[in-house]
Amino acid sequence: SKEKRVLMSGKTFYITTAIDYVNGKPHIGHVYEKIASDVIARHFKQRGDDVYFLTGSDEHGIKIQKTAQKNNMSPKEFCDSNVVDFQALAQDLNLDYNKYIRTTDDYHEKAVQKIFQKLLEKGDIYKASYTGLYCSGCECFLAQKDLTEDGLCPDHMAKPQEVKEENYFFRLSKYKQQIIDHINANPDFILPSYRKNEILNQLENIQDISVSRPKTSVSWGIEVPGDKEQVIYVWIDALSNYITALGYESEDDSLFKKYWPANCQMIGKDILKFHSIYWIGLLLALGVKLPKTIFAHGWITIDEKKMSKSLGNVISHKSILEQYHLESPDALRYFLMTTTSFGRDGNYSDEDFKSKVNADLANNTGNLLNRSLSMLLKYFEGEIKQEFVNDDAKELVDATLRAKKKVVENFDSYMITEAIDEVISLVNLTNKYVNETAPWSLAKDENTLIDCAKVLYNVAEVMYHVAVLMYPVIPDISQKILSQLGEEKNIADIKLDDLKWGMIEPKKIIDKASLTPVFLRIDSELAGDKKK
Ligand code: ME8
Ligand code: MG
Repeated sequence: SKEKRVLMSGKTFYITTAIDYVNGKPHIGHVYEKIASDVIARHFKQRGDDVYFLTGSDEHGIKIQKTAQKNNMSPKEFCDSNVVDFQALAQDLNLDYNKYIRTTDDYHEKAVQKIFQKLLEKGDIYKASYTGLYCSGCECFLAQKDLTEDGLCPDHMAKPQEVKEENYFFRLSKYKQQIIDHINANPDFILPSYRKNEILNQLENIQDISVSRPKTSVSWGIEVPGDKEQVIYVWIDALSNYITALGYESEDDSLFKKYWPANCQMIGKDILKFHSIYWIGLLLALGVKLPKTIFAHGWITIDEKKMSKSLGNVISHKSILEQYHLESPDALRYFLMTTTSFGRDGNYSDEDFKSKVNADLANNTGNLLNRSLSMLLKYFEGEIKQEFVNDDAKELVDATLRAKKKVVENFDSYMITEAIDEVISLVNLTNKYVNETAPWSLAKDENTLIDCAKVLYNVAEVMYHVAVLMYPVIPDISQKILSQLGEEKNIADIKLDDLKWGMIEPKKIIDKASLTPVFLRIDSELAGDKKK
């Protein structure tokens, strides 16, 4: 029975995002990652998993310290004021996360010190003097071979500073072979799999890493336990958030016991090395289980250019939502999740945004629903005559069930874009079905009226499936579709296991359908507003 299934499905699903630096405002790159993670979290809830979704902010380090100084604020004051915009992403983008961790949270700072202490005691952290090239943009030391021909950091095009100082080091080299073996033995550990080789190459030359800085260089950080001269340097602090958020090394670690290891750690490709090498080394040293998948998504460009302050092309979700007068973030969520095969680099442009959401959401999906419901109202007073499982529509029924299966399969490896493509193909097929069966003609003749009813029932049934399958990406629109189909349920509560042909009950009156479009075309004139 249903109840039994709910009780028995104890499978947990823990998904994390990178924690954002709060020294600026959130931009479309931050937003991209958080939306993708939210989509995955919602999908796995539909599967009945017990999902825990974590996101947060990375608040220590030299960049924050300097920006705060420029703004005449203490670093903490500065973070407190900036983090608000990052936390607002929850409402702005409809992110349904369970927890927002700030690395300045007291429990986190304490746990990080305990982690550091553990590693010291184990002999995996030691102190040594160090000379290196430090890029404050990356917040890390770079090797000569990482630099451009002109000796610049390739990511920030800035000359790294030569720094000589005492540091604590983490004995990463000790874990090198174990990390290599783990990557090779677990094909799902680094996804997409085409990123695996670059990591294996980097592992070849891996060395121990600096995990502290003297306060004379950086003061804004968590103090090294037992050494007032040093602060823990960003990566141990930042990476540990994934377990401290669950109470690791705190009085109550029940969430850690329940949800760790993470199923999916979502990050951008620029920080894959930190996550698939440093983080794994730390976990091995701590004797903590390893996450199942580190997923490195691609980079979002604007009009094919890298976003940068100097180019002045940094775009926020806010400006897009305002520019197009969008009350729901669904169109933006949809666009970002389809702009490129998930994992590859993608691009945002106003033109692409408009044409993509107009074509897929307003035309293909919205119009299909709207014209079918109009006919249902016109010819049958909104009544679903009966449930039809007729041979004529076998192709459509099969395609619908196949779409669901494909969506699930694609989500198994977090192929969000491919999952959406399956649903859009189904929508296109259904449009074709309507055009070919021409229910408006069938309605003209008493003898074929029943066939018209069949077609409209079949389309309504497909749309029910489309709404549920698309829900993780476009929750607001999906809910609207569902209620226009006369379903009163909260769409979030519908489990994929329960989604079968025959969702809409016979005799159901679809009188609720007010026939308003579920998604209004983005008017090209509105888009001009910004330029005026
Ligand atoms: O890296 N396109 O923070 P961050 C896609 N604090 N993703 C982008 C992007 C873009 N244009 N720009 C940034 C940090 N991102 C660290 C993480 S995790 C323990 C510490 C992604 O604010 C980036 O790849 O620079 C990263 O995953 C996230 O946004 C935060 O970036
Ligand atoms: Mg960054």
